[in-house]
Amino acid sequence: MQKHIFLIGFMGSGKSTVGALLAERLNLPFLDSDKEIEKRAGKSITEIFSQDGEAVFREMEMNFLRELKSIEPSIVAVGGGLPTIENALPLMHEMGLVIYLNTSLLTLIKRLREEKEQRPLLRELSDSEFHPFVEALLSERVHFYKQAKLIMPNERNSPNELVLKLEKELNKLNF
Ligand code: S3P
Repeated sequence: MQKHIFLIGFMGSGKSTVGALLAERLNLPFLDSDKEIEKRAGKSITEIFSQDGEAVFREMEMNFLRELKSIEPSIVAVGGGLPTIENALPLMHEMGLVIYLNTSLLTLIKRLREEKEQRPLLRELSDSEFHPFVEALLSERVHFYKQAKLIMPNERNSPNELVLKLEKELNKLNF
């Protein structure tokens, strides 16, 4: 079985940025589930949510995951909701190492407020709805994220600093 490295965590936790840097550093291909799904569907995630609905998007995420079985070892950043899909986490554990980028609620809120428009789950929230929505969704999801083999805080460090820390942890695990 091929061994991938999966980065999981809430929207805004840095999976795509850190994943791309880690892939460069380890000389491995980098895949971002959102980008791959957009390529295949020929439309943006926002369009998929509005035209086809969230359930169809989650099926696309699961199909993307299944296809990883037959590709070379890669660094894979997965959308924030993917680990909550039934059977997704066991499949990721089977195919590789799952790493949770753990970012605090307040940091996530700060980051996500600035990027709200690109995120279908957040774009329609008013200012007063924003914080409680993110807080509730994070608390619903955190027990999925915590099933990762490795939990890395991603708070005050730069993406490059985190990549160095990850490299050390991967060495310890002989990965
Ligand atoms: C989602 C997270 C997004 C994207 C979609 C839904 C979620 O990915 O897949 O907007 O349910 O948390 P990122 O976590 O990469 O932002």
